[in-house]
Amino acid sequence: MKFFLDTANVPEIREAAALGLCDGVTTNPSLLAREDGDPREIVREIAKICDGPISAEVVGMTAEEMVREGLEWAKVADNVVVKIPMTTEGLKAIRTLSEQGIATNTTLIFQPVQALMAAKSGASMVSPFVGRLDDIQAPGMELIETIRQIFENYDIATEILVASIRSPMHVLDAARIGADIATMPFSVLETLARHPLTDIGIERFLADWEKVKNR
Ligand code: E4P
Repeated sequence: MKFFLDTANVPEIREAAALGLCDGVTTNPSLLAREDGDPREIVREIAKICDGPISAEVVGMTAEEMVREGLEWAKVADNVVVKIPMTTEGLKAIRTLSEQGIATNTTLIFQPVQALMAAKSGASMVSPFVGRLDDIQAPGMELIETIRQIFENYDIATEILVASIRSPMHVLDAARIGADIATMPFSVLETLARHPLTDIGIERFLADWEKVKNR
């Protein structure tokens, strides 16, 4: 499973890249609004640090506007993937962009047939949002299981990108189900590397080494 960073924060992306754990990045208008500077420049910089797919989202509501914005995003860097919301206008834009060889990520997916429709329109990735479903007491990971099953039934190559991840358990469940990608905040990535018994084990080894090192 690929690990993507769900952030537009350049220092966090640098750190994940240094760990060798940045297979790609997902941004969205809210994440870019949290950072200072021109969003295009931020995405350009991110695309230099991480050579995997970097999602940048359109904000237009008509297919025409989405295609226009998508073509602009695609010029920012070769590894930019155009993120398009799951609407009927979005599906038209996905079709047009994919026919031009531009990779797309369909965002805001909350039910399985939305993912199937996006895949049929030519989406390279689909982004089901697990955390936002959990927030309204709908089991987010069940959506991932169902999409995986549907894509396997029909040999669909579109990648399942688990989005709106809030905890390490979401990442574990995504890997168990066989999702292609998990995009996570940097805080979740850091937490995944930790275990209290690892810390206790290191402390013990260091304490024991103190006893022998001056022999
Ligand atoms: C990623 O592509 C999404 O934009 C992101 O995961 C949404 O996460 P949130 O529900 O925590 O805002």
